[in-house]
Amino acid sequence: MVGGADPRMARSLKYEIPGTDRRSDALELAEIGFDGLFSTDLDSPEERVLEIGFGRGEFLLEMAAKRPRSVFLGIEISFKRVLKMARKVGRAELLNVRLIEARGEVVLSDLIPPSSLDEIWVNFSDPWPKDRHARRRVIQPEFVKNAAKSLVAGGFLHIATDDVPYAHQIAETLDAELLFENAFSPHAWLPEVPGRVQTGYEIDWRAAGRPLHFFASRRNSVNASAC
Ligand SMILES: C[S@@+](CC[C@H](N)C(=O)[O-])C[C@H]1O[C@@H](n2cnc3c(N)ncnc32)[C@H](O)[C@@H]1O
Repeated sequence: MVGGADPRMARSLKYEIPGTDRRSDALELAEIGFDGLFSTDLDSPEERVLEIGFGRGEFLLEMAAKRPRSVFLGIEISFKRVLKMARKVGRAELLNVRLIEARGEVVLSDLIPPSSLDEIWVNFSDPWPKDRHARRRVIQPEFVKNAAKSLVAGGFLHIATDDVPYAHQIAETLDAELLFENAFSPHAWLPEVPGRVQTGYEIDWRAAGRPLHFFASRRNSVNASAC
């Protein structure tokens, strides 16, 4: 088996990376830190951005190409999606992207120092629609607290979902977090955000007429140790 992959999947996957392989791993992140991952290519980045669950990677590729002075760390739980994305990043010769196969919640809680990120994006994370599976959703109070702690004052947590019950859960969870202010207040979410870079699922869901919910939470200047 290669890299722990299912051998049946290995038959249809291309493992070689055109250009530079921008994959890293949790161990390297723990050892050299977020900036260390990028230090060979970009010193003093303008902004540090984390995307959790990048899927087919459309959003991450477009954001990184539009903002070459900022650095983008993409976290995905799927080996196959990380591999496919590594091929796309290599082909696009993007210096400012790194990819890690991991659970986003764990990276955020264990490997990102406080007040170190400018943006976190969680786009259309799996809604787990059955009640008994709802605890598997990424957006939970502990996740939101850790996200807030990892952001600089004025940094943003952006979340999107097409799932109505999940949208209500997200709204309640964000509302309860004292370290965040709702940037879309008085609305809990917006159905469209002009100028937004679209994700792959977003394009699919929009074409299917599904309701879209976009959240933007701004980290306030309250000291995290006070909450
Ligand atoms: C519905 S897809 C959305 C993909 C992409 N964000 C988009 O909007 O096009 C959700 C993605 O999140 C990934 N994922 C699910 N749970 C995750 C977790 N705990 N940490 C990181 N990625 C996760 C899945 O593998 C999948 O690629």
